[in-house]
Amino acid sequence: MTNSDKTRDLDPVLVNRVLWKIPNVLCLIGSRAEATWNAMTASWVTQLSMDPVLIGVSIDVTAVTNRLVREGGAFSVNLWDRSDTRPFVKFSKPALFDDMTLNGRPIRQGESGVPIFTEAAAWIECDLFHTVPLGTHDLFVGEVIDVGIGSRGDEVPVARMEDTRMKYGGVRRGAH
Ligand SMILES: Cc1cc2nc3c(=O)[nH]c(=O)nc-3n(C[C@H](O)[C@H](O)[C@H](O)COP(=O)(O)O)c2cc1C
Repeated sequence: MTNSDKTRDLDPVLVNRVLWKIPNVLCLIGSRAEATWNAMTASWVTQLSMDPVLIGVSIDVTAVTNRLVREGGAFSVNLWDRSDTRPFVKFSKPALFDDMTLNGRPIRQGESGVPIFTEAAAWIECDLFHTVPLGTHDLFVGEVIDVGIGSRGDEVPVARMEDTRMKYGGVRRGAH
């Protein structure tokens, strides 16, 4: 399943212009399977239920993170200081792991084994609860098992898509 015929009948440029207006967080998703540690830039992240407390992240089926979440059965959501958006460019390709850093940013191991950034403004650790295959992306639904606020406290505003010139979403390139 990719684009349905219904979407295909629409003007892809207009679909992009409209869907890019949806406000989104920008964060880093941490994942790990055995010795492979990774983190990636993500914007399709939201809470999905209060009881149980569930968080959904939609991850490209071709991303390294997709395989690591499936194999490791967990992921972390690292919210980031909106005044430091530089990592989002670097983490939009597989990250370099070295001596408990990813792309030079220090990490620690969460309860479930996934990386959690020590510089995160706030973080959420999830056990994989459910996986919904959707097409280009899988929706990973995670049950929250731990949360925390970064060392600089509650007042740090977190990064959003509009803090950068980056875009993500709309129709798949070359789909029309
Ligand atoms: C601003 C921005 C937002 C992104 N949001 C997502 C997202 O929500 N889901 C996703 O699968 N990829 C998203 N990506 C793309 C991934 O960061 C990219 O595919 C990355 O290569 C995946 O890394 P990995 O292969 O190391 O897992 C986004 C990229 C950018 C630049």
